[in-house]
Amino acid sequence: MNKTVEVLPDQPALVARALELILSKLETAIEQRGRFTIALSGGSTPKPLYEAIATQKLPWDKIHIFWGDERYVPPDHPDSNELMTRRAWLNRIDIPGANIHPVPTLEANPELAADKYEKHLKEFFNSSGVEFPALDVVLLGMGDDAHTASLFPHTEALKVRDRLVTVGNKDGNPRISFTYPFINSARSVIFLVAGANKRPALAQVFAPVADDFTYPSRLIQPQGELWWLLDTAAGLELQH
Ligand code: 6PG
Repeated sequence: MNKTVEVLPDQPALVARALELILSKLETAIEQRGRFTIALSGGSTPKPLYEAIATQKLPWDKIHIFWGDERYVPPDHPDSNELMTRRAWLNRIDIPGANIHPVPTLEANPELAADKYEKHLKEFFNSSGVEFPALDVVLLGMGDDAHTASLFPHTEALKVRDRLVTVGNKDGNPRISFTYPFINSARSVIFLVAGANKRPALAQVFAPVADDFTYPSRLIQPQGELWWLLDTAAGLELQH
């Protein structure tokens, strides 16, 4: 694993750096493999990044959008990560509908949604024989409880190692999430973390010893590149 930690002065600088890094990975992926695959995070931090990506002139027909986690709500629900992403980014560009791969949250229950998304991912990556296909980029946020995607502390989702997608749970609300082994199969994992409220969780995630089930972001140890992009408020103590 190749781990890089960058602390940026503020959120605009954080977004600019994240955009630069993603565009670099995108260019390499399209050069080498003819397409770019990225799984997105939800929450509030990435929204300005999505708005910034939407202004770029890119070969959208070669770019495929997935979500690393999604709330088990309809795609028009205010909590939907898909809805936030469409409004901030996807509705503003000319991308083929087939290149957008939302989590099927209209399935009758979260388990069916997770199964269907996993099946879709396996078919898309034609991953016969490969246990965990590799996306080019998995973009992650981190909660102030050190959760990432929808892998929350002390939940059963943290124990799932033989699936690409599982059902997470936040305060009784089901979510669909990539598993940590699937996240770790990515060529690059990029954390985008901002705000002083994340500092205590980051200290535990970066601590030499701590409990992975209490601080799930510790489980993200990709074979490829691991990038932590932090603003100063979040990363103050991690600045070397
Ligand atoms: C979600 C996310 C989640 C998010 C963190 C941080 O669906 O909410 O994917 O893992 O990244 O909760 O959220 P903020 O960026 O809003 O702090």
